[in-house]
Amino acid sequence: MLIRIDANEPRASEITPRAVHENRRLLLGALAGAALPAWAAPQALTGTRSAVPGAVTMEKPTAYKDATTYNNFYEFGTDKADPARNAHTLKTRPWTVEVEGLVNKPRRFDIEELLKLAPMEERIYRLRCVEGWSMVIPWVGYPLAQLIQRVQPQGSAKYVEFVTLADKATMPYVGSRVLDWPYTEGLRMDEALHPLTLLTFGMYGEVLPNQNGAPVRIVVPWKYGFKSAKSIVKIRFVEHEPPTAWNGAAPQEYGFYSNVNPAVDHPRWSQATERRIGEDGLFAKKRKTLPFNGYEAQVGQLYAGMDLKKFY
Ligand code: MTE
Repeated sequence: MLIRIDANEPRASEITPRAVHENRRLLLGALAGAALPAWAAPQALTGTRSAVPGAVTMEKPTAYKDATTYNNFYEFGTDKADPARNAHTLKTRPWTVEVEGLVNKPRRFDIEELLKLAPMEERIYRLRCVEGWSMVIPWVGYPLAQLIQRVQPQGSAKYVEFVTLADKATMPYVGSRVLDWPYTEGLRMDEALHPLTLLTFGMYGEVLPNQNGAPVRIVVPWKYGFKSAKSIVKIRFVEHEPPTAWNGAAPQEYGFYSNVNPAVDHPRWSQATERRIGEDGLFAKKRKTLPFNGYEAQVGQLYAGMDLKKFY
């Protein structure tokens, strides 16, 4: 990986050593002749370690295997193991992302163009799922703000809506009644422009595996994982708060904001603590969940004066 070392770097012992990624890649390379599923044959995608405040947690990244086999991607099934098993059918080329709505320069981006739009950075973020588990993942991407600036939003654009692929031919659970397809999500404009909001193309120094949202997803580290829409095909700028897939399915359980908040429980899962994937076992202690998933210093001011019990 071409990660530049600087003063903000965590100590080498605190992050997964580069050699671990590289050994795995070598191993996969050696196996490439064998019939590997597409998702297990990754290509390199590297970025410079980000210097944005909060962009690199010192915590140890979750094992690659856990992050790529314990997933939520309902288009490929509802079991955690389903996406890794089924997402090999997703076709990530050709791929375009339509950027439309209240912008002066609406346009369709080819994925190859998007990959080159801005310099890639590595971000090591905690991801907290509303179901009570969390991971630490080294993502590769660039701030969504880089794309937003290029399309010039109009003054009336107050929200950004993300629409993801819903292709019955390649996604076996699209059409099932779990959710209203396509899976959609949204952010307020200031959230979308925040430097921590990452348009994401890779993880662990490689392109995103299909089950993690290839070829492009969003990652919003201070919100529950479901805000991070996978396999995006449309980004729409709108005036009013857009409907979202989970809010539509169960409005009393999933709000629009969905900021990680240990003080507001989900009706079915406590949000006070979390289980870090990979730290299982009889005596594994649960971790305390932090407000805004530990990113309060960076994003707390976006919500000044808002009642976060009401706007969950
Ligand atoms: N995006 C799409 N298109 N479909 C989904 O079902 N699940 C969400 C989110 N993005 C989902 C999605 C949920 S509930 C979570 S927790 C995260 O993806 C999981 O991301 P990961 O599998 O990369 O950890």
